[in-house]
Amino acid sequence: MGMAAKTSSRGGAAPPPMDDLEFARWVRLLETRTGVTVPPERKPFLVSGLRRRMRETGHTDYARYYEELLDGARGAVEWAALVDHLTVHETHFFRHPPSLDLIRKEWLPLWEQGVAADQPVHALSVGCATGEEAYTLAMLLDRELTERGGFRRYGVTATDVSQAALSVARAALYPLPRLEEIPLAYRAEAIEPVGDDQFRIVERLRKRVGFACVNLLHATRAPLRQLDLIYCQNVLIYFARERRGELLDGLARLLRPNGLLVLGPGEVTGWSHPQLTRFGGRQTLAFLRQSKETQA
Ligand SMILES: C[S@@+](CC[C@H](N)C(=O)[O-])C[C@H]1O[C@@H](n2cnc3c(N)ncnc32)[C@H](O)[C@@H]1O
Repeated sequence: MGMAAKTSSRGGAAPPPMDDLEFARWVRLLETRTGVTVPPERKPFLVSGLRRRMRETGHTDYARYYEELLDGARGAVEWAALVDHLTVHETHFFRHPPSLDLIRKEWLPLWEQGVAADQPVHALSVGCATGEEAYTLAMLLDRELTERGGFRRYGVTATDVSQAALSVARAALYPLPRLEEIPLAYRAEAIEPVGDDQFRIVERLRKRVGFACVNLLHATRAPLRQLDLIYCQNVLIYFARERRGELLDGLARLLRPNGLLVLGPGEVTGWSHPQLTRFGGRQTLAFLRQSKETQA
Protein backbone atom coordinates (compact mmCIF):
# COMPACT_ATOMS: atom_id res chain seq x y z
CA MET A 1 0.00 0.00 0.00
CA GLY A 2 3.02 2.24 0.55
CA MET A 3 1.34 4.55 3.06
CA ALA A 4 3.63 7.01 4.76
CA ALA A 5 3.33 7.25 8.54
CA LYS A 6 2.59 10.62 10.12
CA THR A 7 3.50 11.76 13.61
CA SER A 8 0.55 12.00 15.98
CA SER A 9 0.04 14.72 18.60
CA ARG A 10 1.05 12.14 21.24
CA GLY A 11 4.47 11.87 19.66
CA GLY A 12 4.02 8.39 18.08
CA ALA A 13 3.39 7.59 14.42
CA ALA A 14 -0.27 7.85 13.36
CA PRO A 15 -1.90 5.91 10.48
CA PRO A 16 -2.61 8.04 7.40
CA PRO A 17 -6.13 8.79 6.05
CA MET A 18 -7.90 5.69 4.71
CA ASP A 19 -8.83 5.40 1.04
CA ASP A 20 -12.11 3.82 -0.10
CA LEU A 21 -10.59 0.51 -1.18
CA GLU A 22 -8.92 0.05 2.18
CA PHE A 23 -12.18 1.03 3.93
CA ALA A 24 -14.10 -1.56 1.89
CA ARG A 25 -11.92 -4.43 3.02
CA TRP A 26 -12.15 -3.46 6.70
CA VAL A 27 -15.94 -3.29 6.30
CA ARG A 28 -15.89 -6.79 4.76
CA LEU A 29 -13.73 -8.17 7.55
CA LEU A 30 -15.99 -6.77 10.27
CA GLU A 31 -19.13 -7.96 8.52
CA THR A 32 -17.80 -11.46 7.89
CA ARG A 33 -16.68 -11.88 11.48
CA THR A 34 -19.48 -10.16 13.40
CA GLY A 35 -22.34 -9.47 11.00
CA VAL A 36 -22.02 -5.76 11.78
CA THR A 37 -22.16 -3.68 8.65
CA VAL A 38 -20.68 -0.18 8.35
CA PRO A 39 -22.28 2.10 5.72
CA PRO A 40 -20.09 4.78 4.09
CA GLU A 41 -21.48 7.53 6.33
CA ARG A 42 -20.14 5.63 9.34
CA LYS A 43 -16.60 5.52 7.95
CA PRO A 44 -15.31 8.04 10.55
CA PHE A 45 -16.50 5.74 13.35
CA LEU A 46 -14.70 2.70 11.91
CA VAL A 47 -11.54 4.62 11.09
CA SER A 48 -11.29 6.28 14.51
CA GLY A 49 -11.81 2.95 16.33
CA LEU A 50 -9.23 1.25 14.16
CA ARG A 51 -6.71 4.05 14.57
CA ARG A 52 -7.18 4.05 18.34
CA ARG A 53 -6.29 0.36 18.50
CA MET A 54 -3.44 0.74 16.01
CA ARG A 55 -1.96 3.52 18.14
CA GLU A 56 -2.25 1.32 21.24
CA THR A 57 -0.37 -1.48 19.50
CA GLY A 58 2.16 0.72 17.68
CA HIS A 59 0.85 -0.01 14.16
CA THR A 60 1.05 2.67 11.48
CA ASP A 61 0.15 0.70 8.37
CA TYR A 62 -3.42 -0.53 7.74
CA ALA A 63 -2.33 -3.26 5.33
CA ARG A 64 0.27 -4.73 7.68
CA TYR A 65 -2.14 -4.63 10.60
CA TYR A 66 -4.80 -6.34 8.46
CA GLU A 67 -2.37 -9.14 7.56
CA GLU A 68 -1.49 -9.62 11.22
CA LEU A 69 -5.17 -9.98 12.12
CA LEU A 70 -5.42 -12.90 9.71
CA ASP A 71 -2.37 -14.57 11.22
CA GLY A 72 -3.52 -17.60 13.25
CA ALA A 73 -3.82 -17.53 17.04
CA ARG A 74 -1.95 -14.21 17.41
CA GLY A 75 -4.32 -12.59 14.97
CA ALA A 76 -7.32 -14.01 16.80
CA VAL A 77 -6.12 -12.52 20.11
CA GLU A 78 -5.63 -9.12 18.49
CA TRP A 79 -9.02 -9.34 16.76
CA ALA A 80 -10.67 -9.92 20.14
CA ALA A 81 -9.23 -6.59 21.32
CA LEU A 82 -9.96 -4.70 18.10
CA VAL A 83 -13.61 -5.71 17.86
CA ASP A 84 -14.36 -3.72 21.00
CA HIS A 85 -13.17 -0.56 19.20
CA LEU A 86 -15.30 -1.26 16.11
CA THR A 87 -18.64 -1.90 17.80
CA VAL A 88 -21.10 0.44 19.51
CA HIS A 89 -21.71 -0.27 23.19
CA GLU A 90 -24.22 2.40 24.11
CA THR A 91 -26.71 0.99 26.59
CA HIS A 92 -28.83 1.95 29.60
CA PHE A 93 -30.61 0.34 32.52
CA PHE A 94 -34.38 0.01 31.88
CA ARG A 95 -33.77 1.21 28.32
CA HIS A 96 -37.16 0.39 26.82
CA PRO A 97 -39.89 0.46 29.51
CA PRO A 98 -42.75 -0.74 27.22
CA SER A 99 -40.85 -3.99 26.52
CA LEU A 100 -40.23 -4.50 30.23
CA ASP A 101 -43.90 -3.85 31.02
CA LEU A 102 -44.85 -6.39 28.36
CA ILE A 103 -42.70 -9.03 30.07
CA ARG A 104 -43.98 -8.16 33.54
CA LYS A 105 -47.65 -7.58 32.94
CA GLU A 106 -48.52 -9.74 29.95
CA TRP A 107 -45.98 -12.45 29.25
CA LEU A 108 -45.00 -13.67 32.72
CA PRO A 109 -48.59 -14.29 33.92
CA LEU A 110 -49.35 -16.19 30.69
CA TRP A 111 -46.12 -18.19 30.78
CA GLU A 112 -46.67 -19.20 34.41
CA GLN A 113 -50.00 -20.83 33.58
CA GLY A 114 -48.26 -23.38 31.37
CA VAL A 115 -45.38 -24.49 33.60
CA ALA A 116 -44.81 -26.28 36.90
CA ALA A 117 -44.57 -24.08 39.99
CA ASP A 118 -40.87 -24.84 40.42
CA GLN A 119 -39.76 -24.39 36.80
CA PRO A 120 -37.11 -21.67 36.63
CA VAL A 121 -37.21 -18.81 34.12
CA HIS A 122 -34.15 -18.73 31.89
CA ALA A 123 -33.56 -15.45 30.06
CA LEU A 124 -30.95 -14.46 27.48
CA SER A 125 -29.71 -10.94 26.83
CA VAL A 126 -28.16 -10.88 23.35
CA GLY A 127 -25.54 -8.17 22.71
CA CYS A 128 -25.56 -7.19 26.38
CA ALA A 129 -22.67 -4.68 26.07
CA THR A 130 -21.63 -3.58 29.59
CA GLY A 131 -24.38 -5.51 31.36
CA GLU A 132 -27.10 -2.94 32.04
CA GLU A 133 -29.74 -4.87 30.05
CA ALA A 134 -28.93 -8.17 31.77
CA TYR A 135 -29.09 -6.64 35.24
CA THR A 136 -32.32 -4.90 34.31
CA LEU A 137 -33.84 -8.29 33.45
CA ALA A 138 -32.52 -9.71 36.73
CA MET A 139 -34.02 -6.82 38.73
CA LEU A 140 -37.34 -7.23 36.98
CA LEU A 141 -37.55 -11.02 37.32
CA ASP A 142 -36.33 -10.92 40.91
CA ARG A 143 -39.03 -8.47 41.93
CA GLU A 144 -41.84 -10.08 39.96
CA LEU A 145 -41.08 -13.60 41.14
CA THR A 146 -40.72 -12.44 44.74
CA GLU A 147 -44.12 -10.75 44.53
CA ARG A 148 -45.58 -14.00 43.22
CA GLY A 149 -44.41 -15.94 46.29
CA GLY A 150 -40.68 -16.23 45.66
CA PHE A 151 -40.59 -19.98 44.91
CA ARG A 152 -39.51 -19.78 41.32
CA ARG A 153 -35.81 -19.39 40.47
CA TYR A 154 -34.48 -17.50 37.48
CA GLY A 155 -31.21 -17.04 35.61
CA VAL A 156 -30.02 -14.57 32.99
CA THR A 157 -27.35 -15.50 30.46
CA ALA A 158 -25.87 -12.45 28.78
CA THR A 159 -23.70 -12.58 25.68
CA ASP A 160 -21.64 -10.18 23.61
CA VAL A 161 -18.81 -10.31 21.10
CA SER A 162 -16.72 -7.75 23.01
CA GLN A 163 -14.55 -9.14 25.82
CA ALA A 164 -13.85 -5.63 27.09
CA ALA A 165 -17.55 -4.83 27.43
CA LEU A 166 -18.10 -8.17 29.19
CA SER A 167 -15.36 -7.38 31.73
CA VAL A 168 -17.20 -4.20 32.69
CA ALA A 169 -20.44 -6.18 32.87
CA ARG A 170 -18.93 -8.81 35.19
CA ALA A 171 -17.57 -6.14 37.53
CA ALA A 172 -21.13 -4.68 37.77
CA LEU A 173 -19.69 -1.36 38.87
CA TYR A 174 -21.20 1.81 37.38
CA PRO A 175 -20.71 5.57 37.80
CA LEU A 176 -23.21 7.17 40.17
CA PRO A 177 -25.05 9.34 37.60
CA ARG A 178 -26.22 6.10 35.89
CA LEU A 179 -28.32 5.40 38.97
CA GLU A 180 -30.90 7.83 37.57
CA GLU A 181 -31.79 5.20 34.96
CA ILE A 182 -32.96 2.71 37.58
CA PRO A 183 -36.50 3.39 38.81
CA LEU A 184 -36.61 4.37 42.49
CA ALA A 185 -38.71 1.36 43.39
CA TYR A 186 -35.86 -1.00 42.42
CA ARG A 187 -32.86 0.85 43.77
CA ALA A 188 -32.83 -0.10 47.46
CA GLU A 189 -32.90 -3.83 46.73
CA ALA A 190 -30.72 -3.82 43.61
CA ILE A 191 -27.68 -1.66 44.21
CA GLU A 192 -25.10 -0.75 46.85
CA PRO A 193 -22.98 2.42 46.88
CA VAL A 194 -19.22 2.05 46.32
CA GLY A 195 -17.24 5.08 47.49
CA ASP A 196 -18.64 8.50 46.61
CA ASP A 197 -19.07 8.12 42.90
CA GLN A 198 -19.98 4.54 41.97
CA PHE A 199 -22.54 1.84 42.68
CA ARG A 200 -22.55 -1.92 42.27
CA ILE A 201 -25.32 -4.39 41.54
CA VAL A 202 -25.88 -6.40 44.73
CA GLU A 203 -24.45 -9.90 44.95
CA ARG A 204 -27.88 -11.58 45.10
CA LEU A 205 -28.61 -10.29 41.58
CA ARG A 206 -25.05 -10.68 40.27
CA LYS A 207 -25.18 -14.37 41.16
CA ARG A 208 -28.18 -14.84 38.89
CA VAL A 209 -26.46 -13.38 35.80
CA GLY A 210 -23.77 -15.19 33.80
CA PHE A 211 -21.79 -13.50 31.01
CA ALA A 212 -20.26 -15.25 28.01
CA CYS A 213 -18.46 -14.17 24.88
CA VAL A 214 -20.73 -15.48 22.13
CA ASN A 215 -20.88 -14.19 18.58
CA LEU A 216 -24.52 -13.79 17.55
CA LEU A 217 -23.58 -15.27 14.17
CA HIS A 218 -22.81 -18.54 15.98
CA ALA A 219 -25.39 -18.32 18.78
CA THR A 220 -27.11 -21.53 17.75
CA ARG A 221 -23.82 -23.41 18.17
CA ALA A 222 -23.40 -22.19 21.76
CA PRO A 223 -24.81 -24.34 24.59
CA LEU A 224 -27.94 -22.20 24.79
CA ARG A 225 -31.20 -24.12 24.63
CA GLN A 226 -34.67 -24.14 26.09
CA LEU A 227 -34.83 -20.43 26.80
CA ASP A 228 -37.97 -18.78 28.13
CA LEU A 229 -37.09 -15.21 27.27
CA ILE A 230 -34.72 -13.83 24.64
CA TYR A 231 -34.10 -10.09 24.77
CA CYS A 232 -32.32 -8.71 21.71
CA GLN A 233 -32.51 -4.94 21.32
CA ASN A 234 -30.25 -2.45 19.54
CA VAL A 235 -28.07 -5.19 18.08
CA LEU A 236 -29.73 -6.27 14.82
CA ILE A 237 -29.88 -2.64 13.67
CA TYR A 238 -26.13 -2.89 13.04
CA PHE A 239 -26.58 -5.96 10.83
CA ALA A 240 -27.45 -6.02 7.13
CA ARG A 241 -31.24 -6.30 6.69
CA GLU A 242 -31.00 -9.48 4.63
CA ARG A 243 -29.13 -11.21 7.45
CA ARG A 244 -31.54 -10.31 10.26
CA GLY A 245 -34.23 -12.87 9.36
CA GLU A 246 -31.78 -15.75 9.33
CA LEU A 247 -30.42 -14.77 12.76
CA LEU A 248 -33.93 -14.47 14.17
CA ASP A 249 -34.79 -17.94 12.83
CA GLY A 250 -31.79 -19.18 14.83
CA LEU A 251 -32.90 -17.40 18.01
CA ALA A 252 -36.46 -18.71 17.57
CA ARG A 253 -35.10 -22.27 17.69
CA LEU A 254 -33.64 -21.61 21.15
CA LEU A 255 -37.03 -20.76 22.66
CA ARG A 256 -39.20 -23.15 24.66
CA PRO A 257 -42.94 -23.32 24.00
CA ASN A 258 -44.53 -20.10 25.35
CA GLY A 259 -41.11 -18.46 25.31
CA LEU A 260 -40.86 -14.81 24.27
CA LEU A 261 -38.48 -13.11 21.83
CA VAL A 262 -38.28 -9.36 22.48
CA LEU A 263 -36.76 -7.06 19.85
CA GLY A 264 -36.67 -3.28 19.63
CA PRO A 265 -39.64 -1.68 17.85
CA GLY A 266 -38.91 -1.14 14.16
CA GLU A 267 -35.72 -3.20 14.24
CA VAL A 268 -37.08 -5.83 11.90
CA THR A 269 -39.83 -5.62 9.32
CA GLY A 270 -41.49 -8.43 7.43
CA TRP A 271 -40.03 -11.28 9.46
CA SER A 272 -42.27 -14.13 10.56
CA HIS A 273 -41.74 -17.65 11.81
CA PRO A 274 -44.13 -20.62 11.55
CA GLN A 275 -43.95 -21.32 15.29
CA LEU A 276 -44.03 -17.74 16.57
CA THR A 277 -46.86 -15.24 16.77
CA ARG A 278 -46.75 -11.48 17.37
CA PHE A 279 -47.28 -10.66 21.03
CA GLY A 280 -48.05 -7.27 22.60
CA GLY A 281 -49.01 -3.87 21.26
CA ARG A 282 -47.45 -1.46 18.80
CA GLN A 283 -45.04 0.08 21.29
CA THR A 284 -43.17 -3.20 21.36
CA LEU A 285 -41.90 -5.83 18.93
CA ALA A 286 -42.14 -9.29 20.47
CA PHE A 287 -42.95 -12.84 19.33
CA LEU A 288 -44.34 -15.73 21.35
CA ARG A 289 -43.43 -19.31 20.60
CA GLN A 290 -46.57 -21.42 20.40
CA SER A 291 -47.42 -23.67 23.31
CA LYS A 292 -47.07 -27.46 22.93
CA GLU A 293 -50.84 -27.83 22.54
CA THR A 294 -51.01 -25.32 19.67
CA GLN A 295 -48.06 -26.95 17.92
CA ALA A 296 -49.61 -30.43 18.14
C1 LIG B 1 -25.63 -0.81 21.12
S1 LIG B 1 -25.18 -2.20 22.09
C2 LIG B 1 -26.76 -2.71 22.70
C3 LIG B 1 -26.73 -3.07 24.16
C4 LIG B 1 -28.07 -3.51 24.74
N1 LIG B 1 -28.60 -4.65 24.04
C5 LIG B 1 -29.06 -2.39 24.77
O1 LIG B 1 -30.03 -2.41 24.01
O2 LIG B 1 -28.90 -1.47 25.56
C6 LIG B 1 -24.83 -3.42 20.83
C7 LIG B 1 -23.97 -4.57 21.34
O3 LIG B 1 -24.01 -5.62 20.38
C8 LIG B 1 -22.75 -6.24 20.40
N2 LIG B 1 -22.54 -7.01 19.16
C9 LIG B 1 -22.30 -6.56 17.91
N3 LIG B 1 -22.14 -7.59 17.07
C10 LIG B 1 -22.29 -8.72 17.78
C11 LIG B 1 -22.22 -10.10 17.46
N4 LIG B 1 -21.98 -10.54 16.24
N5 LIG B 1 -22.43 -10.99 18.46
C12 LIG B 1 -22.68 -10.57 19.72
N6 LIG B 1 -22.75 -9.27 20.10
C13 LIG B 1 -22.55 -8.35 19.12
C14 LIG B 1 -21.76 -5.09 20.54
O4 LIG B 1 -20.51 -5.53 21.02
C15 LIG B 1 -22.52 -4.19 21.53
O5 LIG B 1 -22.11 -4.41 22.85
